[in-house]
Amino acid sequence: MAEEEIKKGLAGVVVDYTAVSKVNSDTNSLLYRGYPVQELAARCSFEEVAYLLWNGELPTTEELAAFTARERAGRPLDPVVKQVIDVLPVTAHPMDVCRTAASVMGARHELAEDSSREANMAKAVDLFAAMPAVVAYDQRRRRGQALVEPRNDLGYSANFLWMTFGEESVPEVVEAFNVSMILYAEHSFNASTFAGRVITSTLSDLHSAVTGAIGALKGPLHGGANEAVMHTFDEIGIRPEESLEDAAARARAWMEHALANKKKVMGFGHRVYKHGDSRVPTMKAALDKMIAHYGRPELLGLYNGLEAAMDEAKGIKPNLDYPAGPTYHLMGFDTQMFTPLFVASRITGWTAHIMEQLESNSLIRPLSTYNGAEERHVP
Ligand code: ACO
Repeated sequence: MAEEEIKKGLAGVVVDYTAVSKVNSDTNSLLYRGYPVQELAARCSFEEVAYLLWNGELPTTEELAAFTARERAGRPLDPVVKQVIDVLPVTAHPMDVCRTAASVMGARHELAEDSSREANMAKAVDLFAAMPAVVAYDQRRRRGQALVEPRNDLGYSANFLWMTFGEESVPEVVEAFNVSMILYAEHSFNASTFAGRVITSTLSDLHSAVTGAIGALKGPLHGGANEAVMHTFDEIGIRPEESLEDAAARARAWMEHALANKKKVMGFGHRVYKHGDSRVPTMKAALDKMIAHYGRPELLGLYNGLEAAMDEAKGIKPNLDYPAGPTYHLMGFDTQMFTPLFVASRITGWTAHIMEQLESNSLIRPLSTYNGAEERHVP
């Protein structure tokens, strides 16, 4: 086979249809079930967007009430899942905790071996409802703090922050968190979603597919980048009293040095978007609000300095992880928890794709060209 026929990384290969979302790299746009993601972020709760991704339509008032009641009922951390988390060392990466929790939830699910659409829908909602408790509790136990029970008078985002920090967040912070959840929810055939679809294509179960997707998301070339962005900020040095201009100058110098040394800087670049990630302006606006709220202009300096230097040197634009990292930092999340937040959101998109894959399944099994040793025989 000619070398040009091998599509390494499946770059540019179209493998199936999807009605869940449309990524248009030419216009830098992203639609969830036809709706621009920016509009959803501005006008909807994450619960409404989750419902949309699964059902294809935004919920009516009655549908939202029923869905919300269902989601709230599923929020408490299963005591067995808590026990399993408790035996995992605090040195384990929180993504390993998420992955393990998803797997345990699957093994314990009453519909574990039922792969009907209704059963998969129930499993998807259960994962969506319970994952905030896993992530929130994991951050707390690492800080030596006790589990905080969910509050049924709060929406998804406000309750997530409540369970993590044990205090109610102000509306601006809840709003920025809600925006981040919506933006992270879905992005067509990205690596983790595709991993989930590959697993589903063997007719394995939904929790196995989600567990595999979590593994794929962990890598720094994918979801792990939001965490890596914060490591870059830390390496440059966050100096809360510094002026925006001084911080930007230090960030620029850092980037110039990094690129001169051929370093790949996480939070920049994208396989599909080559002229900028459609989600960044909305997330950047949320970050700006958080910087103003917490009074931390030096973070904007670091952000601007890195972005400008990368653009000038290579013309590479930030991806969603770039503004999301410092936003979560300002909210008080530990850096290692950033990718688990992405998990909590992306469970919606993954499971929508898993159910779509099952509607017209074909085993995903590509070919390879052998380039190992010639045939030989055991002496
Ligand atoms: N820093 C420095 N250089 C970069 C970066 C970067 N972040 N991204 C791309 N480049 C350069 C590459 O070095 C390469 O240069 P070359 O042609 O001189 O060798 C060129 O741009 C093309 O890069 P590829 O890695 O081949 O592009 P690809 O489409 O395969 O990669 C990817 C996309 C993996 C996202 C890449 O841009 C990257 O590694 N970025 C950093 C990781 C990251 O932020 N991931 C998050 C993705 S978005 C998300 O998960 C929400």
